[in-house]
Amino acid sequence: MSRATPLRPISLRRSVLSVPAINRRALEKIAGLDCDAVIFDLEDSVAPEKKAEARENLRAFFSGPKPVGKERIIRINALSSGFGADDLELVLALEPDAVLLPKVDEPQDVIDVGDRLAEADAPESLRIWAMIETPRGILNAAAIAEAGRTPASRLDCFVVGLNDLRKETGVLPQPGRAYLVPWLMQVILAVSAYGLDAIDSVFNDFRDAEALDAECGQGRAMGFAGKMLIHPNQIEAANRHFGPDEAAIAEAKAIIAAFAAPDAATLNVVNLDGRMVERLHLVQAERLVHKARLIAQRSAALRQAEG
Ligand code: COA
Ligand code: MG
Repeated sequence: MSRATPLRPISLRRSVLSVPAINRRALEKIAGLDCDAVIFDLEDSVAPEKKAEARENLRAFFSGPKPVGKERIIRINALSSGFGADDLELVLALEPDAVLLPKVDEPQDVIDVGDRLAEADAPESLRIWAMIETPRGILNAAAIAEAGRTPASRLDCFVVGLNDLRKETGVLPQPGRAYLVPWLMQVILAVSAYGLDAIDSVFNDFRDAEALDAECGQGRAMGFAGKMLIHPNQIEAANRHFGPDEAAIAEAKAIIAAFAAPDAATLNVVNLDGRMVERLHLVQAERLVHKARLIAQRSAALRQAEG
């Protein structure tokens, strides 16, 4: 008999902004931005001869006040690259919410880092995120996600990287991402089977608001929890598309009310204005309302921090 995937706690990951760790001006901007999470990038946005300086920038940043309402993730270089070991040392020293591993090809890539964190007695709160951005990463997405089943693995979230994947496969960047959708949905299936989040890939053309809007809507419809972003002007669209809108909140509240009626206590299906609603929709509705509450709490905390 199959077991249902346990419902994971909701994390707000609508907008996940990448900030090159070499860019001090961009680092200074973070406190004033409305993104749910920040990826401090030590990998591809930092030139090899600048890696050490980028690590120093992060040391300075993390010694300052913690940005309100934002998950902090450090993207390291591959352990095989010659930079990865020093990056991981930095992660152990700074204890962000997560370390993001680039170009994860197979479960062992995640297990190796989990072992190193355990050896170093890293706090359990330090999670592992994985970039799925290579042909092998896509092919092995389910096996990698399954490796996250054990609590000791720390695996929490996948981030799709289409720039690398397009480079490796020759798929051209096209509106609608038709040839990529089958692979993106493999990733969604893998995270859904094993209870992780998936974040959609970056959209490079940061001045094209209309195309970003379309891609955010598509990512939300596919089941992604949020989008990785490269520029502050992409945050608003991601927050809007990946957060529940007013109509969805109102509908969720109506579903909760319908099942809360005294005569619905023993019903598994109810009639909501001519539409069948099942008890499974109740769980979704409660999660959606909870998410809306988290968003409201986060906005209040940000307003308070701004004084
Ligand atoms: N995080 C924080 N602030 C950022 C930012 C980011 N990712 N990208 C741009 N900004 C800031 C700039 O510093 C600039 O601030 P200023 O007006 O005070 O100087 C402001 O936003 C406007 O930026 P703009 O002039 O439009 O762009 P730019 O030329 O400074 O930067 C990029 C464009 C693409 C180089 C930059 O957005 C970037 O480096 N993005 C992240 C790239 C990355 O992380 N890649 C790896 C993952 S794919
Ligand atoms: Mg990449």
